Amino acid sequence: MRTQVVVIGAGPAGLLLSYLLRSEGLDVVLLEARSREYVRKRMRAGVCEQPTVELLREIGLGTRLDAEGLRHEGFSLRFDGSDHRVALTELTGKAIMVYGQQEIVKDLIDAHEAKGWPIEFEVSGVSLSGLDTDRPRVDYRDVTGVSQVVDADVVAGCDGFHGISRPAVPAGGLRAFDRQYPFAWLGVLAQTPPSSEELIYAHHERGFALHSMRSPELTRAYLQVAPDEKLADWSDDRIWSELSLRLKTDADFSLHEGPLLDKSITPMRSHVVEPMRYGRLFLAGDAAHIVPPTGAKGMNLAVADIRVLSRALVELLQHNSSELAESYSDTCLKRVWRAEHFSWYMTSMLHVDPDADVFQHRLQLSQLRYTASSRAAATSLAENYVGLPFA
Ligand code: APR
Ligand code: PHB
Repeated sequence: MRTQVVVIGAGPAGLLLSYLLRSEGLDVVLLEARSREYVRKRMRAGVCEQPTVELLREIGLGTRLDAEGLRHEGFSLRFDGSDHRVALTELTGKAIMVYGQQEIVKDLIDAHEAKGWPIEFEVSGVSLSGLDTDRPRVDYRDVTGVSQVVDADVVAGCDGFHGISRPAVPAGGLRAFDRQYPFAWLGVLAQTPPSSEELIYAHHERGFALHSMRSPELTRAYLQVAPDEKLADWSDDRIWSELSLRLKTDADFSLHEGPLLDKSITPMRSHVVEPMRYGRLFLAGDAAHIVPPTGAKGMNLAVADIRVLSRALVELLQHNSSELAESYSDTCLKRVWRAEHFSWYMTSMLHVDPDADVFQHRLQLSQLRYTASSRAAATSLAENYVGLPFA
C-alpha cells in the first residue's frame, strides 16, 4: 500500500490530524490499536480551552459542542474553608467549555464515517522503519490478522504516552525531560447533578479534591491519593465521605451523592521529548508530552500541536515546502513548556506533598491567598487556564 501520511493512534490528536489532512485532500491511513467502542467510551478530562473551541467550530465540529457543552466563565479555588472565585471571563474576556474529551472523539469518528474516511481499528504489531529516509514504512496486522505494509511520505506518531512511535526513534534521537509526582488522582463519574455551577479546585490538609461535571445530570470528581493506591480499597461510601470532607466549607455547601458509573486511578507525571520529530516521524499530543491533569491541558495541547502539524504537512506534501515542517517542533515546544509550567504550578499549589515540610506548606497557602486576592496573580492564572493563543 502507498499513502501520503500514516497516522498512528485515533485519540484526539490522531483523529483531528486525519480530519484536517483529509479535508485538504491528502491521502491518509489512520491506524488504532483499540476497538471503536473502546475509543468512543474512554473516559478522560473535560475542559476545552477557548482556542480549542474556536478551532472545532471553524472546522465544522462545533454543533454538538455548542449545544451540549457547558460554557464556564469562572471557577473556584477552595481553601481555608471558603471559596475564592477566579473570574476567567472578567479577567481575560475568554471562557472555557466543559465538554468531555470522549465527546470530541465521538464527533471526530462520526465526521470520518459521514465522509467515508476509513479508520482501521484493532490493528496490532505496528512497527516503523526507514524514518530517516523520505519513504518511511509502517508494518502492521489488520483487524483480521493479515499483515500489511504501507509506504508513506510521513508518519505521524499520535499514539499517546504508551505508544510505539516515540520508542521507534533510535537512541540519542530524542531527549526526554521527566518529573514524577508523589500522588495520583482517583476519578469518579457520578449519576447526580453537580453540587456547584462552577468547577471547584479544593486545597485541603487531607489532600486535593476537584469537583467537576459533564452535564446537568452528571458529576465528575477527583481525589488526590497515593500513587500506589488500590481502587479496591475505595468503596463508593469512602469516596463520598472523603470528597465531602475535602470540599467542606464554613458556609452551607452540600455535596449531591449518587451512583458511581466509573472509577479510575491516574498517576501524575510531567514528560516532554525534544525535538518532537525524528526524520519523517512527527510526534504529537501525549506521544510527545504529558502534563499532570490539574490544569486540564492534555487534550488542548494535543489540539494545538495538530493545528501546527496539519499546516506543516499540507505545505510539505502539497506545495513541496519544508519550512513549517522544519519549525514544527520549536513552534510547538514553546506552548508545550508554557503548559508544562502551568500544570506543574497548579499541581504544586493545590496538592499535599507527603514529603513537604511546614515551611513549604506555609508557602503554598501564601501562594493560594495571593492568587485569590491579587488581580495580577489571578489574571496570570486565568489567561493560562482559558488557553494562550495558538502559534
Ligand atoms: N498502534 C495504534 N494505536 C495505538 C498504539 C499502537 N501501537 N498505541 C497506542 N495507540 C492508540 C491508543 O489506543 C489511543 O487511542 O493511540 C491513541 C492515543 O490517544 P491518547 O492517549 O488519547 O493521546 P492523544 O490523542 O495525544 O490525546 C491527548 O488525550 O490521553 C489524553 O491525557 C491525554 O488529554 C490528553 C489527550
Ligand atoms: C474534568 O472534568 O475531567 C477535569 C476538569 C478540570 C481539570 C481536570 C479534569 O483540571
